[in-house]
Amino acid sequence: MSSLTLKRLAMRIFFVIEVIVVLLWYFFGKNGIQSMMKLQYEQQLLEREKMSFCQEVTDLQKKIDEWKVTPFLKEKVAREQLQMAREGEEIYYVDSENKGDNSMSYPYKLPELPYAHDALEPYIDERTMHFHHDKHQRGYMIKLNEALSEWPEGQNRDLVEMLSHPDQIPQHLRKKIVDNGGGYWIHTLYWNNMEPAGGGDPTGKLAEAIEKSFGSIAAFKDLFSAQARSFFGSGWVWLVITPEGNLKVSSSVGHELPQKEDNIPLLVIDVWEHAYYLKFQNRRAEYIENWWQVVNWPEVEKRLLAQL
Ligand SMILES: [Fe+2]
Repeated sequence: MSSLTLKRLAMRIFFVIEVIVVLLWYFFGKNGIQSMMKLQYEQQLLEREKMSFCQEVTDLQKKIDEWKVTPFLKEKVAREQLQMAREGEEIYYVDSENKGDNSMSYPYKLPELPYAHDALEPYIDERTMHFHHDKHQRGYMIKLNEALSEWPEGQNRDLVEMLSHPDQIPQHLRKKIVDNGGGYWIHTLYWNNMEPAGGGDPTGKLAEAIEKSFGSIAAFKDLFSAQARSFFGSGWVWLVITPEGNLKVSSSVGHELPQKEDNIPLLVIDVWEHAYYLKFQNRRAEYIENWWQVVNWPEVEKRLLAQL
């Protein structure tokens, strides 16, 4: 066979391969790209559903059923996401058997909010309250109960007393109990430190004690706000009463209790981002200013009087 014939044969083979590649691309490659784009689109939609608290899982199921998606998408993506949505729903909708018990004993229950989720609007928004109470505090409660299920002795101990002496907790459970027990207990105080008709300035014995320790109500508020604004990371800022009977502003990282240092908390603000990010994003100072509008001063005074 001459070299010219070989060259022509090679060109024909190359042409046939090229046609096959183009045809494969047209029938499969194009669909593959479309599937990928559809996959991304479906994921975005489902993510949005998830972000909207998964309130309408039934509707989400309906949407998935209506979508003209491939079996792959339905089985591998949509169902997985639906399951996540259902899990979210399970957490979001607090079951009646597992809330409303404020007795603070094992197994711990999710305490009722002392007001409706939207009652602190426009200062603290309803959406944040749902996430904060129904998800975050509930999550701490679940993990606290999980940890204590492995330590029967701790089940009968007073929660604050236990958290004040973490060295007495078995080492392998210590961090889990301190983090989640603290998160569980402090959030209950935080809810009660707020009320829809709150704000203004303290009065009575509380006002007298604050003026004695800080010079004036305004000076105390400035100091407290400054500490809350400048606190680095996730934690809490407190007004506490010391064993000597003085009031002071302090802060704690994570979920540590002031009782660990023998101080009794009177007032607390949550400066974890989950407390304000949905409404205020990075504007923590704005959150603090709004929070002052719902502070429950009578409750703070009650806590003070219990220590005098
Ligand atoms: Fe919080």
